[in-house]
Amino acid sequence: MITTATNTILGNRKNGFTIPTAKLYPFQWNWDSAFIASGYSYFNLDFAIQEFKTLMKGQWENGMIPHIIFHSENEKTYFPNFDFWKSDVNSGSPKDLATSGISQPPVHGFLLERIYLQHPNNPKLLDFIKWIFPKIVNSHRFFYKYRDPNHEGLFFLYHPWESGRDNSPIWDELLENIELDPSQIPAYTRLDTLHADPSERPTDDQYDRFVYLLELGKKYKYDGQEIAKESPLKVQDSLMNAVLIRSNQSLIRLGKIIGEDVAELEEWNQQSVKLFNQKLWNDKIDCFASYDMVNEKLIGIREIGGWASLCAGIANQEQAEKTTSYLQKLQNNNFLLCPSFDPFHAKFDPKRYWRGPIWPHMNTLLFDGLIHYGFNELANKVKEDTIYLIENKGFYEYFEPRKSISEKLERGYGGNHFSWTASSYLTFKNI
Ligand code: SER
Repeated sequence: MITTATNTILGNRKNGFTIPTAKLYPFQWNWDSAFIASGYSYFNLDFAIQEFKTLMKGQWENGMIPHIIFHSENEKTYFPNFDFWKSDVNSGSPKDLATSGISQPPVHGFLLERIYLQHPNNPKLLDFIKWIFPKIVNSHRFFYKYRDPNHEGLFFLYHPWESGRDNSPIWDELLENIELDPSQIPAYTRLDTLHADPSERPTDDQYDRFVYLLELGKKYKYDGQEIAKESPLKVQDSLMNAVLIRSNQSLIRLGKIIGEDVAELEEWNQQSVKLFNQKLWNDKIDCFASYDMVNEKLIGIREIGGWASLCAGIANQEQAEKTTSYLQKLQNNNFLLCPSFDPFHAKFDPKRYWRGPIWPHMNTLLFDGLIHYGFNELANKVKEDTIYLIENKGFYEYFEPRKSISEKLERGYGGNHFSWTASSYLTFKNI
């Protein structure tokens, strides 16, 4: 299986970068790439370094690492493609490379440290860390400077695609409240449903709203400060902010090793940790949650973003225990770990993308958090379930969480031959 995992990633490798999977996602994706680099580091450190280097070619002058880098303009199987995003409306986007206009969870510092810990004395890797360190710091600066209008230390997103958890019920109320004016949405054709089962993808109505928000971003040249004034969706997302904090911490440690000044990172991080704990803990559901800045309220929904936020080590032991006791309840009720959305909620939909299925890369983050707080048994359950699913159903994008149903299925859901699934498999086999 290890060989199949490495071949899956290598099979998706193009010219210096790796796609998540053919047709469905035929370009370089931001956080996929970081997880993929982490996968490469178990068998080809040069490819891991190259993956990051190629990703950074897409970085904007304002520091943003876009969520898609369109290395080729000839791939026609994906919507929205480069000609729909039109990243050149922003004068700070790369001159010679088209990208999307939004970012994704900033896992780069975190995963760079994971790679470093496997190869702590490798001079080539240390040189590379020196090269990439200021670029990743700059990508953090983007969030603090352009996405934190009240200088809280928590940044907002305006497009669910940025969170990575596109159609999670977290966004439902805000998306449904958008009064769609058809004249504001250009004609478009979805292509994702040609390459994956439509019942496992977001709905058409959600896509209309995703496109509406994309157009809003484009209208303001993807400038977060302007978008903040008009966007009907503005959320301080638990997972994204937790991952930023986790990556701050990793960069502080790495920076000290390579002799970089980390004072700015420490300052950001102190403020972020304080606000995260004050603002994003939801004691009605006993876990971290995302904050809706438009309606000024915490979103009262249990989902993988809040649970995996444990990886940042911000929770105190009591908070961590409350979060994990819910996960324990899921296990006791015959769910494989960990569903992406609360199975006891009416909106749980075990096949549909981020409304229920298990995502292997999220399990690597959750595993990290559980180990941090000493919940080793539960962490091992997360690891064993992920390995079981991949070994028995294949290298799919996501998986059925109900044990009784899973036992009858021969495959996972969404795309197959998926790079970060293979990478997560390698991670779990090596820790
Ligand atoms: N995940 C989104 C998609 O399905 C955007 O990156 O295209």
